[in-house]
Amino acid sequence: MSEASQPVEDAGDNEKRPQFGTRLLTDDADVFKHNAWDHVQWDTEQEEAAQAAVEKNSTVKMSDDQRERFQSDAPKFWNSFYGIHDNGFFKDRHWLLTEFPELAPNEANDKTQARSIFELGCGVGNTIFPILELSSETQLRVYGCDFSERAIEILRSQRQFDAKRCEVFVMDATEEQWQVPFEENSQDIIVMIFVLSAIEPSKMQRVLENCYRYLKPGGLLLFRDYGRYDLAQLRFKSGKCLEDNFYVRGDGTMVYFFTEQEIRDMFSKTGLKEEQLIVDRRLQVNRGRGLKMYRVWIQTKFRKPL
Ligand SMILES: C[S@@+](CC[C@H](N)C(=O)[O-])C[C@H]1O[C@@H](n2cnc3c(N)ncnc32)[C@H](O)[C@@H]1O
Repeated sequence: MSEASQPVEDAGDNEKRPQFGTRLLTDDADVFKHNAWDHVQWDTEQEEAAQAAVEKNSTVKMSDDQRERFQSDAPKFWNSFYGIHDNGFFKDRHWLLTEFPELAPNEANDKTQARSIFELGCGVGNTIFPILELSSETQLRVYGCDFSERAIEILRSQRQFDAKRCEVFVMDATEEQWQVPFEENSQDIIVMIFVLSAIEPSKMQRVLENCYRYLKPGGLLLFRDYGRYDLAQLRFKSGKCLEDNFYVRGDGTMVYFFTEQEIRDMFSKTGLKEEQLIVDRRLQVNRGRGLKMYRVWIQTKFRKPL
């Protein structure tokens, strides 16, 4: 199976993940075979090579019919994905609380204060479960939605699922009117991890507008997703491109690769205020296979004004 058909690799979630800063990852268990540097700078030559690779794989676009099919059947493709992989993907989340400590703050002043967190595209719970496990807040309520029924079924069947603190439901986030079990202006945090990229670009703004609507004034939108020229984008073969920077993997799931400016523009347009916007460029070297792999992810924190 090609890399482009493996969301787990693409998501970059199963790698040892350090804090930002330039250093060799000596804590990687596989360090003798597989090294990684984060925060690497790209030179012009590399940028041009990436541009050329993308031009090559995106000159031919899929037909409108094919495109409509992938978009309308998107929940089916994700259902099949979870039918095959169950809860075995996107598992290693040791970076989650390092990057987003707001999800389970250690030194919350008042652990009895009621807080609500909502995850869009929660999959099988790889973000929700660490929050439930690590938060000592007595009044925390965690919500999650996904348009894959299979994902929600798997999530609910896990031993760690705690219906007293957590509610999950099937919902397509691109719907104009969200059917959710909470009020507008009610969520302290909304989380989107590798989900906006799975949504067709023409509907992304609508999704963000709804996030804004359901966030509390002062609430935070936390986001991590693919960046432009990530290895996963460069590896697509010609014939897999739906529109510029938007592709279909071998398993029928779709993926977009964002620039910093696109994210800034879309998020700001809703009224959200930028607090963090990081482009995380990482070089991974597999010495055994003589491979250099450049990963690019975007991570942001935007706040709804009071
Ligand atoms: C790459 S997975 C990430 C899953 C999860 N956020 C995680 O990090 O483990 C993308 C998820 O988004 C879900 N998804 C894609 N489009 C969606 C939509 N329009 N509405 C709701 N969920 C969606 C998929 O079913 C899948 O579970």
